[in-house]
Amino acid sequence: MARDAIRDKVSIVGVGCCQFGENWDQSPADMIVDAAYEAYADAGIEKPQEQIDAVFTGSIYSNKGPHECSDALKLWKPVTSVSNYCATGTDAFRCGVMSIACGLYDTVLVVGYDKPKDRGVAGPSVVMTQVRDLPQTPAGWFSICASRYFEKYGAGRDDLARIAIKNHHNGTLAPNSFLKREITLEDYKKARLISWPFGLYDCAAQTDGAAAVILTRSDLAKSFRRDPVVVKGVTVFAGPNPQKDPTMDFLAWKPSIEAGQVAYEMAGVGPEDIDVAQVHDCFSLTELLTYEDLGFCEKGAAKEHIQDGRFEIGGGLPVNTDGGLKSFGHPTGATGVRMIYENTLQLQGRAGERQTPDAEIALSHNIGGYPTACGIAILGRA
Ligand SMILES: CC(C)(COP(=O)(O)OP(=O)(O)OC[C@H]1O[C@@H](n2cnc3c(N)ncnc32)[C@H](O)[C@@H]1OP(=O)(O)O)[C@@H](O)C(=O)NCCC(=O)NCCS
Repeated sequence: MARDAIRDKVSIVGVGCCQFGENWDQSPADMIVDAAYEAYADAGIEKPQEQIDAVFTGSIYSNKGPHECSDALKLWKPVTSVSNYCATGTDAFRCGVMSIACGLYDTVLVVGYDKPKDRGVAGPSVVMTQVRDLPQTPAGWFSICASRYFEKYGAGRDDLARIAIKNHHNGTLAPNSFLKREITLEDYKKARLISWPFGLYDCAAQTDGAAAVILTRSDLAKSFRRDPVVVKGVTVFAGPNPQKDPTMDFLAWKPSIEAGQVAYEMAGVGPEDIDVAQVHDCFSLTELLTYEDLGFCEKGAAKEHIQDGRFEIGGGLPVNTDGGLKSFGHPTGATGVRMIYENTLQLQGRAGERQTPDAEIALSHNIGGYPTACGIAILGRA
């Protein structure tokens, strides 16, 4: 594999993100239009039918496939529809990047969206995962990992609380987030229990949303805007169900580790070079394990870094500067693209109160399935 094959060849020249939330008054098409037209305006695109060569979309709940976007955006274009668990949005982005890097297209639109609130279910997510063949909700399964981690490394609910409080705070600073609500340690401890050790504030909410990105060849990027962001590396990892692997210890997730190593090599950087990151925090513990799986700190050491405030805005490596899944919820296809939206703003110095000073390299990460799928994108200032 040529690890540097796509590095710096493709640039982001426009991003858009609709208001995330319980969007009862919006169809998927409404959200797609909001996100895509913001991205067009950001890139200075006035005639999408002429200026966009192809569309890549990511959604896991849509039953219309590529037609949802064509219909919504009134485009006659090659449209590719991608579905890959929680890595769906990042995978759609990856396909768009590859289509330009191989020389086929000049400029493409990537749209991630989903509308899970229309599924007609409330409460904990429907039973979808299994642990050692026993039915589990996602909260049930991730909470088993938390108990194991606590037992092995001496962490506890107070450490998870710091992540939840941080992400709730960051969400108050992000215009398009769903939950704009500060919480205290007391709120965290008093909240209803979902699956021990997770209470309400350890869980991402369920929301609707869409986000969009315009990609172009790097040599064309400055004709769109003066501050494009380059794609350093992007990869997706899919593996067999680790819960059927008797050697799995529940303390680290192979998809994140494998995808992380490849993404760092593609980008020619290491974890020490990352200035700002958006990582999958479907549950607070997911974010904690990701610090370790991506090499932001040593295995078992996350607790000390959390207590030092390293991952907070203003800390050494701010993580989930927009409040993450905790504040935006997790409309699955949208999440990876929403993270790329935030990282692009960070690299362009447009993140307002959330801004990481002088950010040059930004990483986004999703993990999903059992967990079997991981997507990682590393972006850099041009
Ligand atoms: C935690 C969870 C069970 C709560 O769902 P619920 O009990 O149906 O909650 P409701 O939608 O009825 O919301 C009740 C209130 O809590 C709030 N709320 C809902 N989820 C919340 C969350 N995760 N964090 C904070 N507040 C939340 C709502 O805004 C609402 O507030 P209000 O009374 O002020 O309007 C649900 O969000 C969940 O299952 N999350 C995990 C999602 C998941 O598994 N994703 C897959 C990841 S791989």
